Amino acid sequence: MTRLLSKDEPIPYDLLLLADEFVEVIDKYIFDSEIYVYEEGDRIIALYALYKIDSEEAEIKNIAVDSEYQNKGIGKVLLNEATARAKEKGFKTLAIGTGDAMMIQLQLYQKAGFEMDMIKKNFYLDNYPTPIYENGLRLKHMVVLKKKLDR
Ligand code: ACO
Repeated sequence: MTRLLSKDEPIPYDLLLLADEFVEVIDKYIFDSEIYVYEEGDRIIALYALYKIDSEEAEIKNIAVDSEYQNKGIGKVLLNEATARAKEKGFKTLAIGTGDAMMIQLQLYQKAGFEMDMIKKNFYLDNYPTPIYENGLRLKHMVVLKKKLDR
């Protein structure tokens, strides 16, 4: 289970930077997000940032698992937990966005019940200071996936 990081605790940029490569991009959403952290002992090893878009919709702006702990099922647990939290808070839809070349993430989110909803064209060209390459492809567009939160 995760806990909400309090406002007076340091923001775990080391983890956030695994999902989003630039602090200046993270800073556009992180101060308006709730950060839920997953700990082993007193060490934060994973997190997600939940951002309110409007009264109906929330978005997971960032999800990251420490590289030592990846591919052990924690990401899946966090996605399910974020879904439950967003539902509990009364949102009707939960969104998550990722790059067009992020194959593992696109698969993981669809397996967790998110469906492709729209493309933010040129998002990575317009919002990031330098090119980002993933799986040998330059990230260009953001794929936004959404999940309906049935009551
Ligand atoms: N290679 C192949 N498959 C993988 C890998 C990998 N490196 N990592 C995860 N998977 C697959 C698993 O096999 C599993 O598939 P299955 O359900 O068919 O068994 C599925 O993805 C879920 O795996 P988890 O172990 O739950 O995923 P994990 O704990 O590693 O979390 C995450 C996934 C968050 C993407 C993590 O790997 C990570 O932090 N990566 C770096 C940061 C990142 O890319 N964050 C997302 C950016 S988009 C955003 O933040 C909105």
